[in-house]
Amino acid sequence: NVIYRQDYLPPPFWIDSVDLTFDLDPAKTRVLNKMRVRRNPDVPPQALRLDGEELNLARVLVNGQGTSFKMEDHTLVLENLPEGNDPFELEIFTTCAPAKNTKLMGLYVSNESFFTQCEAEGFRRITYFLDRPDVMASYTVTLRGDKTKYPVMLSNGNLVEQGELDDDRHFAKWVDPFRKPSYLFALVAGQLVCREQRIVSRSGKEHLLQVYVRAGDLDKTEHAMNSLMHSVAWDEARFNLPLDLERFMIVATSDFNMGAMENKGLNIFNTKYVLASQATATDVDFANIESVVGHEYFHNWTGNRVTCRDWFQLSLKEGLTVFRDQEFSQDLAGEASARAVKRIEDVRVLRSAQFPEDAGPMAHPVRPDQYLEINNFYTVTVYEKGAEVVRMQQTLVGREGFAKGMALYFQRHDGHAVTCDDFAQAIADANPESPLAQKLEQFKRWYSQAGTPRVRAEGRFDEASGTYTLTLSQSCAPTPGQATKLPFVIPIAYGLVAADGREVASGMHVLTEASETLTFNGLQAAPVPSLLRGFSAPVILDHDYTDERLLTLLAHDTDPFNRWEAAQRLATARALKAIRGGGEVELDAPFVEAMRTVLRHPTLDAAFKELVLTLPGETYIAEQLETVDPQRVHVVREAMKEQLAQQLFADFEQAYEQNKDTGAYRPDPVSSGRRALAGLALAHLCLAARQSGDTVWPGKAYQRFKDAGNMTDRFNALTALVTSGHPLAAEALQRFHAMFKDEALVIDKWFALQASAPDRGGNVLPVVKQLMSHPDFNIRNPNRARSVIFSYCSGNPGGFHRADAAGYVFWSERVMELDSMNPQVAARLARALDRWKKLAEPLRTAAREAIARVAAKPDLSNDVREVVTRALAD
Ligand code: ARG
Ligand code: ZN
Repeated sequence: NVIYRQDYLPPPFWIDSVDLTFDLDPAKTRVLNKMRVRRNPDVPPQALRLDGEELNLARVLVNGQGTSFKMEDHTLVLENLPEGNDPFELEIFTTCAPAKNTKLMGLYVSNESFFTQCEAEGFRRITYFLDRPDVMASYTVTLRGDKTKYPVMLSNGNLVEQGELDDDRHFAKWVDPFRKPSYLFALVAGQLVCREQRIVSRSGKEHLLQVYVRAGDLDKTEHAMNSLMHSVAWDEARFNLPLDLERFMIVATSDFNMGAMENKGLNIFNTKYVLASQATATDVDFANIESVVGHEYFHNWTGNRVTCRDWFQLSLKEGLTVFRDQEFSQDLAGEASARAVKRIEDVRVLRSAQFPEDAGPMAHPVRPDQYLEINNFYTVTVYEKGAEVVRMQQTLVGREGFAKGMALYFQRHDGHAVTCDDFAQAIADANPESPLAQKLEQFKRWYSQAGTPRVRAEGRFDEASGTYTLTLSQSCAPTPGQATKLPFVIPIAYGLVAADGREVASGMHVLTEASETLTFNGLQAAPVPSLLRGFSAPVILDHDYTDERLLTLLAHDTDPFNRWEAAQRLATARALKAIRGGGEVELDAPFVEAMRTVLRHPTLDAAFKELVLTLPGETYIAEQLETVDPQRVHVVREAMKEQLAQQLFADFEQAYEQNKDTGAYRPDPVSSGRRALAGLALAHLCLAARQSGDTVWPGKAYQRFKDAGNMTDRFNALTALVTSGHPLAAEALQRFHAMFKDEALVIDKWFALQASAPDRGGNVLPVVKQLMSHPDFNIRNPNRARSVIFSYCSGNPGGFHRADAAGYVFWSERVMELDSMNPQVAARLARALDRWKKLAEPLRTAAREAIARVAAKPDLSNDVREVVTRALAD
């Protein structure tokens, strides 16, 4: 049963308040739910239909009296309710089995503690309810449980009462001062400890911040707490949005389907995005924690105070909140060059994950029109492309105009469940003169049309008149269900760069027609166009750049994004040429020299150098091809790396020596950048050694692996050994495991590194199978499953797309195995073959057969069914 956006109807009843009492027991938790319900006067009188899933229903009372009810599938139907619009009391008593909840949706047990995950539709697994985001209620929650097993019992809002009960039990009563939709409900109970911080916000109010973890992990919570304090300060300073709660809690759990969840006042996080110490977490982990803590905190306004009317509007909160967390990380990074590095990283994610999604069978608009399972739409399109759509609105109204628009958005919609249209309307109305306001309806096609637009740029210089004309044309390929597209509003930031590097013009053009021509007068010579600066729109830019012009941009562009982009284009062109030409790689001197110049540059940041010297990823390269043999893509990219390693050997040596020591550990952008460059250099030096038989650099890498003072340096050294395939790698891996056997998140890295190692003659799949029978492997733990299975199936194209189809067989078995316990995780894995139609034979046929095998599984979840059905559709 597919759900359509067009079918939205307001709820026939409102639930004004909910009073929940939990008797916590892993095997059988009892839930008493007392609601104040009334009919929605705007809707014709009808039965009340409550959502419920895997619940045992014991009792239903209306105003204290028994009532008739029936079950229709998962729905509890109440037909004989009081007439009229007066509120009545509805009491429902159910039980559920948290210990058996392997889906990790609703109430579940992890490490003997209780956690909840209710977004999107998990609350119905806790009690019968109108489990939809436009029904907002006031919650009172009483938790009762064993004092020793569950000394800490948390829910949303404020703790108003606690005390003793019989039989070594106790209770805690929580009241949330804000109305909220059911997906923001949370409870946690277990043996947890917390780091606390009292802060005074700009308004002078006091707040208590807490980060809860298991007893041994307290020393890894400082960075999360600092990130939270920065988040509070940033939202006040940038958007005037204060913390509206006396108490704000973060709780970490090692069993979590996604990254984290913004439950009102009680965020629940995957440990991966909370726990960090220099010994166990890398710079990337530190940065991710900062951005996820920010993300969930920022949801408190964009998501919680103003929420979604229905799940088709998911990007209303997710796109906007990703945009906000990206801006937060950029603002904290400080320097313009560090901001640019963050922007490049974000664009890299968009282009390597969202562009393929937008070109594949699961393509959908930022505001989807239909779904079978909403969990399948927590996607890079809704999140990352959604963030780009918000970013373009900021670009079109200016930074100040955008802040004004946000203020109007909250003035209009605070406390309500609204739509993407309401958001764009507020930004436009606050800036009536802006191009956004003038083209609002057309701009909103970004919400309704799927697919990545292409912009073709053609330049022409007329020597006689000194005139340069630039013709920009846009198009967008069909996507499932959308055969034709109308033109988008595309902000194109540009500059014109002279051959000697001077900038002769710059500006912003808002492309709205299918084709438009810009004219520039008074030029001495043909300029090099620097287009889509800062990646001003999520489009593919086609332009017949010559190498010479790209080299000019790489050397001189004032826009760091396009400097990086020029290098990516140079590298991509070489990769594509080699792939199409049969696999031989012969890097030309101008390209190698340009890379050398960047590597040796006296003033460029190390972080930026590392980005430039990192070749475009295999997935990104594959997307540029009509037909893909992933193994050939892998071989070519590896060969390019090896040639760079050999030809830039001395330069990598110098880069390594200059950046290897970063002093006392701090995960700031400058020292992280230096560690990243040192790591890249070391990997190349070991790779070069692989060819030459040199043992010096692998030896140095091993030494560094042993002596490193932080996980970034240690893991980079280990990676250099593993990816260069050096014999020392086995010893290092063994040592690494022994060193960190009690650190689950580090062991995840250990698994992931091996599962994503470069494939040499099909050696990875046997390793992956071995890893799955390692005593530390547990498929029920999503982080662990991701570290082995996803790292191989999605993170190792060269190893996965085997000519003998053994990778696909492995994939189909794992999808089916996971489907029976955790459909959400299974459906993510199912997407590893999204782009099967692009594969070269015999891979294509083998992939289709593997997908068909999954599709034929009896009792397939909606989650996986939706993915494989769409994959097989023509
Ligand atoms: N709202 C959460 C976030 O973006 C994600 C929760 C997704 N959960 C799910 N079951 N799909 O931070
Ligand atoms: Zn979010």
